[in-house]
Amino acid sequence: PAPGWATEADVVVVGSGVAGLTVALRCAAAGAKVTVVTKARLDDGSTRWAQGGIAAALGEGDTPEQHLDDTLVAGAGLCDERAVRTLVTEGPDAVRRLIATGARFDADDDTGEILLTREGGHHRRRIAHAGGDATGAEISRALVEAVRAAGIDTVENALVLDLLGDGSGRTAGVTLHVMGEGQRDGVGAVRAGAVVLATGGMGQIFSATTNPAVSTGDGVALALRAGAEVSDLEFVQFHPTVLWLGPEAEGQQPLVSEAVRGEGAHLVDADGVRFMQGQHELAELAPRDIVAKGIMRRMRERGAEHMYLDARHFGARMWERRFPTILAACRAHGIDPVTEPIPVAPAAHYASGGVRTDLRGRTTVPGLYACGEVACTGVHGANRLASNSLLEGLVFAERIAEDITAGADGPARPAAPPERPYAGVPGEAPLLASEARYEIQHIMTQGAGVLRSAESLARAADRLERVHDDAVAQLRRDGKTAEPGVETWEATNLHLVARVLVAAALRREETRGCHWREDRPERDDAAWRRHLLVTLRPDGA
Ligand code: SIN
Repeated sequence: PAPGWATEADVVVVGSGVAGLTVALRCAAAGAKVTVVTKARLDDGSTRWAQGGIAAALGEGDTPEQHLDDTLVAGAGLCDERAVRTLVTEGPDAVRRLIATGARFDADDDTGEILLTREGGHHRRRIAHAGGDATGAEISRALVEAVRAAGIDTVENALVLDLLGDGSGRTAGVTLHVMGEGQRDGVGAVRAGAVVLATGGMGQIFSATTNPAVSTGDGVALALRAGAEVSDLEFVQFHPTVLWLGPEAEGQQPLVSEAVRGEGAHLVDADGVRFMQGQHELAELAPRDIVAKGIMRRMRERGAEHMYLDARHFGARMWERRFPTILAACRAHGIDPVTEPIPVAPAAHYASGGVRTDLRGRTTVPGLYACGEVACTGVHGANRLASNSLLEGLVFAERIAEDITAGADGPARPAAPPERPYAGVPGEAPLLASEARYEIQHIMTQGAGVLRSAESLARAADRLERVHDDAVAQLRRDGKTAEPGVETWEATNLHLVARVLVAAALRREETRGCHWREDRPERDDAAWRRHLLVTLRPDGA
């Protein structure tokens, strides 16, 4: 649709989690005119839901080199070592700058030193946390307050639609659909020489996820439509311990942080038997993919729908002080972790892949950057190490801000139109009806979930094609597509991302990290120690 209004900025940041708001703050501090656009409210993204914390070599005796080693092992041979080295060496100072921006982490009452916990795959206590288990909420609070105090222009309830190009292949801004009142309502445009995608993840592609309802893969879909390269989409991380609320539970599910295991909770089956010992030297604190597989295996052996996390030995005081958010969520669902084990099962949690970037956050489209979960910087490889995601958002946001404001490649404001949307919905793909979201989620959960095979993936690919074909047939028949709006755009974005994810998962004929192919159970370094890169042709293929 043609924009009904337009504004201008040097930089438009799409998304308002740790990555987006950090880019915005640092660019604004360097004098750039920044507009932040976000799909719901400023604090509505995934960052707010992060529990465990943010990993950095801050503790005595810890070093970036040890953090690097743990990250590379978790990444199962597919991390970009230069990107990981950047993350772990710049991480500690980036966390200190976050503290200077206003975030308050839990600290020792006497010494004032930041308290650190452990999570899966970390050989040391390295995870800083806030409010016990409400780290993301505190980071979000601090960054939102700082953005408001800096007077940065923000547009809420704004779903980004597509990238604008300047006619020569450079980014010229974005079009967006705003559900608001006043001047900036309906479909509009923000013209800017630099666009930063910080739209978060795509967990809503599956029926049950820890991600909020807004995580619908919009950034990856937009980048694909703009011709940017996307990588590693087959590596969807399933968090091992998500509160199990029954087989029909759908949408966002309560997370039970790895930090609960980091503080000594055990995974047990219905007979109270621990089953991670003997599977990995770190037992319950093995990297996340290994724990998720261990749980799934035991569930199969026992014909069970879930396992249990037993932390009764923490006692009421520790539960209340250290994990107040999780305690409240469990109790809200009638489970008291002080007196009973918590039923848990894996659920979709994190996209390790995304829009491919270099170490400055640049994508393959000039002027377009990506940061945070939407990006694939190379730090996560085939399986992200716990609590590296907030850190990645922080470190690479600062690098992007530096790149944009250094002047080498921006922020040259596009002088004037000609501007054109890059592609719109590619080929003949019409907007999907909002109900398609649920169909896509079921298709993906059945065919491309924690366990996959060539057969299940091929079936998922066929069913996704049918969703598209039905919409095309309807368009031909009725002469109109679904009504443009947030829900129809989200369904359309989910569909595009699901198609690419399934194609990549079919193609990778091995098991590695969080990509578990039952028909190809071994890791195959000779054939598959490489990345799958995807770009969309203008016809949508
Ligand atoms: C958790 O608290 O278990 C989540 C940490 C993460 O996803 O990195």
